[in-house]
Amino acid sequence: MGDRWYSEAVVYCLDIDTYADSDGDGVGDIRGLIGRLDYLARLGVTCLWLHPIHPSPNKDDGYDATDFYNVDPRFGTLGDFAELLHQAQNRGIRVIIDLVVNHTSDQHPWFVSARSSPDSPYRDWYVWSDEEPEDRHQGMVFPGEQHETWTYDRTAKGWYYHRFYKFQPDLNMANPAVRAEVKKIMSFWLQLGVSGFRMDAAPFIIELTEPGNPNSPKDFEFLTELRQHVQWRRGDAVLLAEANVEPDQLPTFFGDSGGSANRLHMLFDFMLNGRLMLALARQDPEPVIEALRDTPALPEGGQWATFLRNHDEIDLSRLTAEQRNEVYAQFGPDEDMRIYDRGIRRRLAPMLGNDRRRLELAYSLQFSLRGTPVLRYGEEIGMGEDLSLPGRQAIRTPMQWRYQPNAGFSTADPEKLVRPVIDKGEFSYEKVNVTAQRADRTSLLAWFERMIRTLREAPEIGSGSTTHIDVPTPPGVLAHRADGSTGTMVFLHNLGTGDAVVDLSHLEPEADLPIDVLGDRSYAPVGKLDRLQLAGYGYRWIRLRRGRGF
Ligand code: NOJ
Repeated sequence: MGDRWYSEAVVYCLDIDTYADSDGDGVGDIRGLIGRLDYLARLGVTCLWLHPIHPSPNKDDGYDATDFYNVDPRFGTLGDFAELLHQAQNRGIRVIIDLVVNHTSDQHPWFVSARSSPDSPYRDWYVWSDEEPEDRHQGMVFPGEQHETWTYDRTAKGWYYHRFYKFQPDLNMANPAVRAEVKKIMSFWLQLGVSGFRMDAAPFIIELTEPGNPNSPKDFEFLTELRQHVQWRRGDAVLLAEANVEPDQLPTFFGDSGGSANRLHMLFDFMLNGRLMLALARQDPEPVIEALRDTPALPEGGQWATFLRNHDEIDLSRLTAEQRNEVYAQFGPDEDMRIYDRGIRRRLAPMLGNDRRRLELAYSLQFSLRGTPVLRYGEEIGMGEDLSLPGRQAIRTPMQWRYQPNAGFSTADPEKLVRPVIDKGEFSYEKVNVTAQRADRTSLLAWFERMIRTLREAPEIGSGSTTHIDVPTPPGVLAHRADGSTGTMVFLHNLGTGDAVVDLSHLEPEADLPIDVLGDRSYAPVGKLDRLQLAGYGYRWIRLRRGRGF
């Protein structure tokens, strides 16, 4: 892969504890994951994003670390982790890890020391206020489950700040010692061989929190510092961050006002995610067209990461209340399917009624749109959720490998499993599992393998530019194109149920032996591009032109 490997990557995210258990203790582990690398290589994945791997009391699925320099003993040892990196590299797969340094667990030795005395060397590593801050009840990320952002600590005799749950005290990034420590943590993992980080909560990391000021200033320069540091330590390492902010603020996360891409390489495209959901709910591509049109231009080297599902709720907070209700009505009709007044705690297959046509359509759309696709484990076989589990755990159930006890995830007693497997209904492991789908050339898994391979033959999707083809199309149909040095691809997606015919003959002069490379079925050849047929929920990927030397 070239320098900007991340532009052409296929990222797959997983929790080690629910992926594969090698030692039968009920918790997935690194050795279990190593045993699944061939599966991931075959799927076409080129980069793994591992959710937090550090020791943790696990009150927020590992996003509450107690030691940034180790792996959770439940997952294995640092030695196992180094072996994972080696084995992944042998298969051409890079590994990035979650970097969760906005906060620690309240059980982290730094916080234990900090709260114990005002003289602790770690006191200033956290954010304190002697007085009760006026904005104590503002800025909560988990409404309904979190009641304040400042909590009084009796031992410390002071208020500490926590943007997230109260067991996640925020680190004080205004303190140079903390900044140096964050760089040290990054160096440590880069030295071991990770290819970068998924940076948790980027907008909050750079917050210079002032008690009583709910709009505390942000220090974007810290992102520049981190980028520089990472690049010096490992030139090809990538920073992929979570920053769910207003669109006009996004460019500042990629680079400074001078236009250089000197901060984060990649951001998750939350805006597109919400618009994709709205488009699928309405069966109308207009919200996606708006997203393509309205998203700010990125500096050279900046890249979006697209996703339909990740490990959290589907966050619809960037939609209007009315739009959100439209999505709820289609995909989260029951109160129990929703969470935090803004999202849906379901996987995609159940949301789309387990309709294979709609699932292919949705993922074809995500993977053909600009940016680097991120796929969540289990989506490739169409796993479901377990709404009887609390909160976001509903979509964090064990991977379904086989029709065997515990879905082939673990040999432990079922009650010892980190989370129960889905064993009832149409998404039970009896019906949805890897082994069955591997044996079936028409399965969703087989489709993902083919689709990802096709994507990898079309690098212009990830590294070129993506635009809406603005011609009259039948209702429900989106036409877009990707242009890059490797050529041009054209895509048609029919979000509606009716058959359609699309006329793209104006592109004929550009075409050079145009050919269908992927579709929901075999269509009549593209011909002069003037009568392109498309079934309801159908899609076509057409190679219009190959670039020179490709
Ligand atoms: C974002 C993560 O995706 C989420 O799972 C977590 O709860 C918060 N950050 C806090 O770390």
